[in-house]
Parts: sequence; structure tokens; C-alpha cells
Amino acid sequence: MKKWRLDFRIWHWIHAVVVLGLLGTVFLRKTFLSWRTNSELLTQKLAEIDVEVTSEQAKVLAKAIRAPMWEWHIILGYTLTALIVWRIILFFTESGKQNYLNNKEDTLHKKMVKWGYIMIYMVLVFMSVSGLTIHFHEFLGLSKAIAHDIKEIHELVFNAILIFVPLHIVGIVIAENRAERGIISAMVHGNRK
Ligand code: HEM
Ligand code: HEM
Repeated sequence: MKKWRLDFRIWHWIHAVVVLGLLGTVFLRKTFLSWRTNSELLTQKLAEIDVEVTSEQAKVLAKAIRAPMWEWHIILGYTLTALIVWRIILFFTESGKQNYLNNKEDTLHKKMVKWGYIMIYMVLVFMSVSGLTIHFHEFLGLSKAIAHDIKEIHELVFNAILIFVPLHIVGIVIAENRAERGIISAMVHGNRK
């Protein structure tokens, strides 16, 4: 069973919480705090108390309700960027590189899992760079139209994370129940005597 140094374990769990948090903010933006749904609700409820608002005004109100929640996307986004830098530093440790050393005994499945990790790291780097670019587009001298195009790609690539996370969790639970008993607890206690 693999050994994980304490700093790697702390990195993995903070990273897991941050990525799940980012997915959570997207979920809220697209459901309970969707400006489309809420602007209709606001228009309807305000009409019931004889307050007429235009669709544009209702949109402004709905977006204002969503804003404090969405700030968390940016806060968690900065945190993710810092975690990526931390992960790069961890590549220089035994724990950080053990999955990526050439191991001829690896089965095809193991090789695919490791390539999956490399792919998701590349996706996370893209999400971080594109997210920061959208957020700082004015400072970077980019037009709103370009920022919007980058957002469309940021949103498209987000699907890769949406697929990876459940696959990873289900895969790890299956491994825990089959050939790799203790794989989860190893990421908790590190497996060192
Ligand atoms: C919450 C449930 C989760 C559990 C139980 C879990 C468990 C694990 C375990 C046991 C490993 C080690 C696999 C091995 O032996 O190679 C691992 C690795 C990894 N996990 Fe998770 N994980 C969870 C969530 C996440 C989330 C949300 C992410 C976010 C993308 C994530 C990203 C990763 C990555 C990138 C690796 C590879 C580490 C390396 O570079 O060697 N995990 N996870
Ligand atoms: C796991 C990583 C991330 C995921 C899954 C993710 C997901 C998304 C999604 C799906 C959207 C589109 C929301 C919509 O229009 O309905 C979005 C927008 C955005 N994201 Fe991310 N994101 C991630 C990381 C980041 C990072 C690191 C930043 C940098 C601070 C960031 C900043 C933004 C910004 C500024 C927007 C545009 C919001 C707007 O148009 O008002 N994201 N993100």
C-alpha cells in the first residue's frame, strides 16, 4: 500500500473540499439562485403586492441575491490556484510523484487511472487560468466579448470535473472493497508506522 506524507494528505483533503465547494457554487447558481427563475418569482410576488417591475429590474434584483453566494466561487477559485501551486511543489516529494513513476507492473487499469489524474490536473490548471482571466479581464485589457468567450470554454471544461469527481469517488470505494483494502484510510493516516 502507498505511503502518503502528512502534507500530501492535508493537500488532498483541502483540495477535495475546495473542488466540491466550487461545484456547489455552480449547482446553486444553476438551481436555487438562478437569476432566470428568481427574476420571474420576484416579478410575480411583487405584482401580488402591487409593485410593478420591468424584467430588467427583476433581473438586477435576482442577480443581487445571487452575488454573495457567487463570491465564494471566486474565493474558492483563488484557493484552488494556491492549491495547484502547492501540488506542483509536492511533485518534488516521494508522495507527490509515486503515482507517476514508470512502473512496468502496472495493469492497464492502473495506467488509465494515473492518466486520468494527469488529465484532471491539466483541466484544473486550465480552470484556474481561465477563471482568473475572466475575473481580471479589465485589468488584463481584454474586452467583455473575449471574457465571455473564455467563460463559455471555462463552463464547457467544467463538465470534465463533473465527470471525474463521481468516477473518482466511486472508483476509490470499489477499490477499497476489492483488491485495495485500506486505500482510503491510507489517505487519512498515511500508512507509516
Ligand atoms: C471525498 C471523497 C474522496 C475520497 C474518498 C478520495 C480518496 C482518494 C484516495 C484514496 C486517493 C489515492 C489513490 C491512490 O492510491 O493512487 C486519491 C487520490 C487523488 N484524489 Fe481523491 N478522494 C476524494 C475526493 C477527491 C476530489 C473531490 C478530488 C478533486 C478533483 C480528488 C482528487 C484526487 C487526485 C487528483 C488524486 C491523485 C493524487 C496523486 O497525484 O497521486 N479527490 N483520492
Ligand atoms: C474546479 C474548478 C472550477 C469549476 C468547476 C468552475 C465552474 C464554473 C462554471 C460552470 C461557470 C459558469 C457559470 C454560469 O455561467 O452558469 C463558471 C464561471 C466563472 N468562474 Fe469558475 N470554475 C472553477 C474554477 C474557477 C477559478 C479558479 C476561478 C478564478 C477565480 C473562477 C472564476 C469564474 C468566473 C469569474 C466566472 C464567470 C462568472 C460570471 O460570468 O459572472 N472559476 N465557473
